[in-house]
Formats: sequence, C-alpha cells, structure tokens
Amino acid sequence: MKSLILVLLAMVVFTRCNTTTQTINTISPDGRIQVEVVESKGKVGYLVKFNNKIKIDTSFLGFDLQGQPSLSDNLSISGIEKSSFSETWEMPWGEQRVVENNYKQLVVKVQEKQALQRKFDIIFKVYNDGLGFRYAFPNQAGLDEVIIEEELTEFNLTGDHQVWWIPGDWDIYEHLYNNTSFSKIDALSKRNHPNLAQTFIPENAVNTPVTMKTKDGTYLSFHEADLTDYAGMTLLVDNKNLKMKSGLVDGPEGYAVKTKTPFITPWRTIQITDNAGDLIESNLIVNLNDPAEVEEIPWFKPMKYVGIWWEMHMGKSSWDVAAGKHGATTQNAKRHIDFAAANNIGGVLVEGWNTGWERWIGFPDREGVFDFVTPYPDYNLEEVVAYAKEKGVEIIMHHETSAAPRTYDQQLDTAYQLMKSLGIHSVKTGYVGPIIPEGVRHHGQWMVNHYNNVIDQGLKYEVAINAHEPIKATGRRRTYPNEIAREGLRGQEFNAWASDGGNPPSHLPTVAFTRMLAGPIDFTPGIFDIKFEEYKPNNQVNTTLAQQLALYVVIYSPIQMAADLIENYDKQPAFQFIRDVAVDWEQSKVIDGEVGDFVIIARQERDSENWFIGGITGDNSREVDLNFDFLKPDMEYDAIVYKDGQKAHWNDNPLGIEIETIKIKNIDSLKIKMVQGGGFAISLLANQ
Ligand code: NOJ
Ligand code: CA
Repeated sequence: MKSLILVLLAMVVFTRCNTTTQTINTISPDGRIQVEVVESKGKVGYLVKFNNKIKIDTSFLGFDLQGQPSLSDNLSISGIEKSSFSETWEMPWGEQRVVENNYKQLVVKVQEKQALQRKFDIIFKVYNDGLGFRYAFPNQAGLDEVIIEEELTEFNLTGDHQVWWIPGDWDIYEHLYNNTSFSKIDALSKRNHPNLAQTFIPENAVNTPVTMKTKDGTYLSFHEADLTDYAGMTLLVDNKNLKMKSGLVDGPEGYAVKTKTPFITPWRTIQITDNAGDLIESNLIVNLNDPAEVEEIPWFKPMKYVGIWWEMHMGKSSWDVAAGKHGATTQNAKRHIDFAAANNIGGVLVEGWNTGWERWIGFPDREGVFDFVTPYPDYNLEEVVAYAKEKGVEIIMHHETSAAPRTYDQQLDTAYQLMKSLGIHSVKTGYVGPIIPEGVRHHGQWMVNHYNNVIDQGLKYEVAINAHEPIKATGRRRTYPNEIAREGLRGQEFNAWASDGGNPPSHLPTVAFTRMLAGPIDFTPGIFDIKFEEYKPNNQVNTTLAQQLALYVVIYSPIQMAADLIENYDKQPAFQFIRDVAVDWEQSKVIDGEVGDFVIIARQERDSENWFIGGITGDNSREVDLNFDFLKPDMEYDAIVYKDGQKAHWNDNPLGIEIETIKIKNIDSLKIKMVQGGGFAISLLANQ
C-alpha cells in the first residue's frame, strides 16, 4: 500500500536584510546529511555535511546562457519553501519490491538583483542516502527560448579523495575504470577505447557515476537523475583546487541545450554513505524520478536469455549473409529455442536477422542502410516466432542502428508495429560508431531525446528496450518501466576482441560501485569456455568460471544473458546455477564489499523464499565468512555452492570449480575462498 504524507512546513518570504550572507539549512530524515544553502556576495551555492563534517564545501551554482550575461553573479535568494515527504512505492520488477522514498525538500527561489532580473528555483531533496538538486526556470518576461552554453554547478571537494573514474567521453562509456587520487585524474591520457577515432573526449573530465572514498572512510558518488530533454553531464576536473564543475555535452551548433521556459534540469545527485555496500543499496537515483506513467507492463517479464550473439563476436559466424557463415538462420534460431525451452531460459536474442549488415561499422554512408522489417532470405521471422511460441520462449528483437538514428526514427513505427503484430515484447538496440550527422554526440541533448523517444514508442507498442552504446541510466526506469537494461560500460564483448587484454579482474568489482549505481546492466555473463582457444586464442575472459556464475546475482539486470555458445553448456554441472537463478527480486542485501576489490550480494527471489548469493573478487584472493542470518529462522534450505577450486586462478586455472550440496539454516555460517579473479555463487532453494 502506498502512503503519502506531504507536510508543507513553511513558506517563508524573505524580507531582504542588509547582510550579504545568509544560510538556510535542510537535514535528511535521519539527521545525518545536512545541506546548507548560502547566499554570499551575489552568489548562491550549497555546502553538504555528513555526520557534522563538511563533505562538499561551498559550491556555487549558475548558468551561462547564449547572448546574455552570465547568470551566476548578482543573485539573491528571494524566498524558500520547506516540506517533507514520505511514501513507499513498488518496483514492477527490480532489485527489490518495496522502495522507501523519504526526504526533506527545500525550494530556494533565486532572482537577479538588477538588470534582467531573471529568476529560477533550486530544488533540493535530502535523503538518508544522499541528495539531489535541480534547477527549475519558470515562465518569465525576457526569457522564452533559452540556449544553455554551460551549466555552472560546482562540487567542491574537501580532500584529495581516492576516485574510481572513466574519462568524460561524449560518445561512449566503454572505458576501463581508473583508480587514482583526485589530483591525479588525467582523463585525456586514458583514452583506451579501441574505436578512439569514433569518440570524443574534450578535456580533463570524468563521466558519471563517479565514486570516491575520503580519507575518513566516507563514500561519495556523483551522478544525475531524470536526464530528460537536456545534455548529459560530465564533470570537469580541477586537479589543483580539488573541484569539479558540470561540463555539458555540446551539440553540433556549439552549445549544449536549447529549451524554452518553463523547464527543469536533471537532478544533480550525490550519494553519501559510510560503507561501500550502502551505495549499491541506495535508491536515490530512482527515487528522484517521477512515479510510473503506467503502473504495470504485464507484457514484460524479467527473463534469462540465450542468443545468436557470442558466435559473431567469436568469429564463428557472421551478422551478414555475404560473409558466407551467417549466424541468424531459421535453423540456428530453432536450435537456440530448443535449448532455452529445455533449460528454464525465457528468451532468445537473434542478431544479424535483418538486411543492412554489409555496410554498418566503419561505413560513412550508413544512413538508410539498415532495414528493421526485412529479414535475410535464410531467416524466416514468422516461422521462428511461431516455433518459439509453441515452446514457450520469447524472441528478442535486435535493431543495430549503426549510429544512424534518423534512419531508425523513420522506421520506428513500422518496426515496432511489426513486433507488436508478432507478439515480440523486447528489443536490443545498438548505436555503434560515430553518430550521423557529424557533430551530434551520443550523450548530447539530441540523442538524449532520441533514446527517450524510443522508450516512449516502446511503451506505445508494448516493447521493452535494452540499449547498447546508450545514454547513461538516470533512474527513468521508475517512470518508464519498459526501460529495462542497457550496456553503457565495457561489457563482456570486450573479452572477445579487445586488443588490450580484455576486462581485468578488478573491472567488475569496480563496476558494481560505479556504473551499477545508475541502473540495470546488460553485461552478458556466463562464459564457460573462458579461454576460447578454438576461435580467439589471443583473447580470453579474465575471471574464473565460478565468478561468471556469481555475476547473475552481483550485476543486476531484469534480463540476464547466458552468453556463451550454447554447445559450451553441454554436460556442464555448473550450468545448473544458471538454470536455477532468479531474475526478479523481492529484496537485495549487500553483505560486504570494497570498491574495486570485492563484493558479495544476496538477493531473495520474488514470490518465493529462495535466495541466491554471488561474490566476486578482483586482483586479490580472499576468504570470507558467510553468515546466513538474513534468512528466515526455522527454514531449511537446500544449498548448492559453486566455488573456486583450491587451485583455481583466473588465468592459470579458470575452470577449477567445486560444487557441493549442503543444508543451510539462518544460524549457519560458511567459510568460502575466492581466488584471484574468482568468486562464488550459491542457490538456496527453500524447503517449504
Ligand atoms: C555492439 C553491442 O554492444 C553488441 O552487443 C552487438 O553485438 C553489436 N554492437 C552489434 O549490434
Ligand atoms: Ca558495445
């Protein structure tokens, strides 16, 4: 049951006093986070304390608008409104069913003292797990169409924190994480994406979420929520002064955002916790988004899936027909459907089914090439869909746009109509390469609107979207529950072909505390043939097999791929975990973890008493003492433990795995060793 308490505490209209400095306080419901809004010498800013210590020092706010004086000086606070809010809401699918949404709100009314007398509000919401603030520009004389050249939001740090960051690339988030002190961030030297020519990093900036640890053990993560009709925000790094400032992604015209009053910006968010695991349990980003437009989307159910996918990345088959080893054939699709039906897997993704793959990556004239309704002659779409239905399996549609979004826009209606007529309810989209036309960036306002428009169309045609090369997740899944998952990181595919050795063991223990704070990840776990000697002897996955299993629990997504060639699951006892593991959760608990190092998460299956636990470690092996006190007392579970063998190692012996079946109760505990690059997975199946 949802309950909603809205208490309007005060509406204070300021009579301007003669002093130049004034401060307004707002405190989180638990009293630990305190935001002070300051007006000082014509500037308006904020400061954040956590447990009475300053964590964000006075940071000023404002905008540079085209053709107008900077909107950052000569400002005064003309009024404030304070209120508090408390509700619970239910995720239609997610890491947990019930979400608490409790915050204190402060609306600060700001007006220019002279000249144009432009005005805007800054809305702060202060939660127990962090805060968000956004700007709201009302309708006003002299400010109709607005061109934002830069947003001047500062984040002034209080020390040279340890930071886990990727460069502030305007086109792609597929970078390895760096772990340095703030003063050593050097984004321009870390341009490590293999398709560098296609991406753009203008200056020393980082992309969000960016996570930090202070010397006194506070964790901070900076991101944004509800990115709608605006440009994506990078954070410009001032190494010397330990400051960050918003750096919006520009469009081809040389500015970031074109809009009209009234408008609101996305929320600028800071998660603040005193242990790393609480960052993962934080709901700040989804809570800052509006409630769902449609409460339920019964046509989408979380699922596991297999696909005609890894075989192309392995070079075993091809996306296009002309290469002579086409993967997406009717027969191959049926083989995957049979496998899914036999193994408790709900979906089959088929890539390379439609015409256009002869001219995608690297071809400058890609506009108008892909056709999203016409299959290759050796793929009978209707027959495949009918066969899948018969077997109780869903086909997942695939639309690679090759970053020609206009071609996709033109076909959206017909393509989604086709899906609706076939009863296909999810699509994986892709935006590989530089956007056509030149100068439009993946993370700029035009593309933000494109990605969001695809979500809207999906809602209309009952299609859920899993975008690759996407815009970052900003919690909009609360409002649009068909925004199911996305890539937006270096996924498993890099292990198939990256020339830099693939994702190192520290990658995923970092991702869990950075990228994953934004939202669900289509990482595509479950590679069993870790070294793939047959297809790509120079590449490999840099984890143990046990870690690949753990990822189904650790890296959250409502769709989880069993990514390997299905023949590699033949006669593999470890595959039982993938058969059993749930994809939709009643609750999730981070048992332990440290950014970049290791993480252990337990999740309870929805509508069930079953639990699943995953643990992964990076460069260091470790022994953990697992406590089961989160289980219901007096219940007994049949547990299957999948753990690294004593001599396992991500490189020397990745397949070393031990599987044992034991009984577990909530008073029990278990010592488990994770080797370097290793992990463990446990299914706890309740004895009812
Ligand atoms: C890049 C995506 O990340 C990958 O999963 C997909 O197979 C290719 N594009 C082709 O669409
Ligand atoms: Ca990709």
